[in-house]
Amino acid sequence: MLEILRAPDPVLRATADPCEPGDEALKEISEQMAEVMYNNNGCGLAAPQVGLSKRLIVIDVAYDTEDESSRDPIVLVNPEIVELAGDPVIDGEGCLSCPGISVPIKRKPYAKVRYYNLDGELWEIAGDGLLGRCLQHEIDHLNGITLFESVAPELRIDALNAYEEAKAQGLKPGETGIEVKVR
Ligand code: NI
Repeated sequence: MLEILRAPDPVLRATADPCEPGDEALKEISEQMAEVMYNNNGCGLAAPQVGLSKRLIVIDVAYDTEDESSRDPIVLVNPEIVELAGDPVIDGEGCLSCPGISVPIKRKPYAKVRYYNLDGELWEIAGDGLLGRCLQHEIDHLNGITLFESVAPELRIDALNAYEEAKAQGLKPGETGIEVKVR
């Protein structure tokens, strides 16, 4: 089973390498990533979070944790943001690699992303709300950006302190009980 790396692991700060679209090996890797995501109640997971510095993400923002049959992961190979739109919205984000905390992050609500599917076909996905936010969060991971880099500079120390507190409490991936507040 793949293990989730936690900040400040250096792999999380690296720029991930492109995948070969259509590479058969991505099917097995993404299946394992989806398993890790669901097991930890995440709505997205990027390959660097399991130690693979590759441009590959898995997301499922509609999963109902009460109903395993609702699992419907989307795998995005080499995803690129082609459009962001709308007035920026601040909302709390958690991350399986920064367990225990929720950090306010300002993002444009709408994102359009171009990617390859596992068969090597070029696709686009677009949405706002949780989908738009999740797409941007996971693609940030491919560029070495974690919550501590996306949070507003004046809240960065608060976020790091909250994370230290979460570590001291032994909080686990999927938990976001310590909420950093906008000042
Ligand atoms: Ni994350």
